[in-house]
Amino acid sequence: MTSTYQEILRIGRSPALRGVCSVPGDKSISHRALLFGALCDGPVEIDGLGLGGDNISTANALRALGVSVYVAGPSARVEGVGFAGLREAAGALDCGNSGTTMRLFCGLLAGCPFESTLTGDPSLSRRPMGRVATPLRLMGARVQGHSDPGRPESLLPPLVVAGGNLHGIDYQLPVASAQLKSALVLAGLRASGRTTIEEPGLSRDHTERMLRFLGAPIRVDLVHRRIEVDPVGWNGRLTAAPVGVPGDLSSAAFLLVAAAVVPGSDITVEHVGLNSTRTGVIDVLRAMSANIEVVQTAEVMGEPVGYVRVRWVGPLRGTEITGELALRSIDEIPALAIACALASGRSGFSDIGELRVKESDRIASIARELKRAGIEVEQTTGGFVVVGSGGLPPKGGRVLPDGDHRIAMAGAVLGLLSNDETIVPSKDIATSFPTFGEILQALGGGVKRDIEVTG
Ligand code: S3P
Repeated sequence: MTSTYQEILRIGRSPALRGVCSVPGDKSISHRALLFGALCDGPVEIDGLGLGGDNISTANALRALGVSVYVAGPSARVEGVGFAGLREAAGALDCGNSGTTMRLFCGLLAGCPFESTLTGDPSLSRRPMGRVATPLRLMGARVQGHSDPGRPESLLPPLVVAGGNLHGIDYQLPVASAQLKSALVLAGLRASGRTTIEEPGLSRDHTERMLRFLGAPIRVDLVHRRIEVDPVGWNGRLTAAPVGVPGDLSSAAFLLVAAAVVPGSDITVEHVGLNSTRTGVIDVLRAMSANIEVVQTAEVMGEPVGYVRVRWVGPLRGTEITGELALRSIDEIPALAIACALASGRSGFSDIGELRVKESDRIASIARELKRAGIEVEQTTGGFVVVGSGGLPPKGGRVLPDGDHRIAMAGAVLGLLSNDETIVPSKDIATSFPTFGEILQALGGGVKRDIEVTG
């Protein structure tokens, strides 16, 4: 029998976390820096690029379309070719675990006069793509996929996109989704007329900010959550400029929660993105009585950047996360679930039905991991309810990330308060935050990196 090896994190009861750190470049902004860089009229230097698996999938998909992308650590260079310079790929574009890559490339390829196939890993192959195919078909693209035998109306990867000859549409998004609106903005830039896009809530707006910075013909009405793309008379190329990517607040969230729950902690995460569509996690932790200092120190391409300091002050208290607060902390719910699991009192999460179709069914995954650790939790249709342990240590054990980086990291943070050992496979964490274990260790957290041999 052959042995198999996997990298794991062994987590134990943690001493205080202390120190200053930075986190890898924002995953959402890194995708856009690479993709929009390719649409520029010359070379684009990127500083601070995230190097997680998802961003590498975007870089590789661009390479497959004939774009030169050089990545040297967090510095990268993309040789912009404009829409017209993209070439039909020799094979399928592998989006790996990345929903953002697949949905944004659907929009990009809808405007290209050739056929492309987009594939993904088992987790991505279960995620719904009908939401992006429907409006792109209305614009004139052909988008085909598979359907789940139990749900014939579903559209799942692999997808085949045959693009070109698009016309503008007026479209109301059925869900607030930055991936969906970005796909439509990209297609709108190639359409023969004006496209307007309205969303029911304001999802992250990195696409709008970066495209405006690079000179795209788009207008944003924040009050009505409405974007207008009018490419008539535009030359089809963005204006090349150096792009800076701030640290990822979604990655930092796991460290912020860790510092808020491990007694005696005091940490500062520097140079992190503070876009208000993403800062719900800070508001929720404050509502739970965490001590958080946030200072904006710069603005990069219209994105506020600064540092966040968390000082442990005592047990947190339960809270309610709903509505626009839930939307502004959508990727941080797994981290916040851990804060609530250790707080005193009950916490309710609602309006987070979208979590059912993330890298895993996150509501089910969170409930499973909290139950394993002995925490009382109940799933509802659009969320879940947790009864905090009030500081009682959770049980240890083995975290099952189910192909989901944020579930793996949430399980690790929970383990910092346990008297038993918690084992977390590292593989999935690399999707967004490959240096998570290393940084937690450098802050003094109870983490050991190890190799597990089976067989
Ligand atoms: C992302 C948008 C969000 C977010 C995801 C990244 C993006 O998804 O949850 O992790 O970079 O555009 P939705 O578009 O489904 O809201």
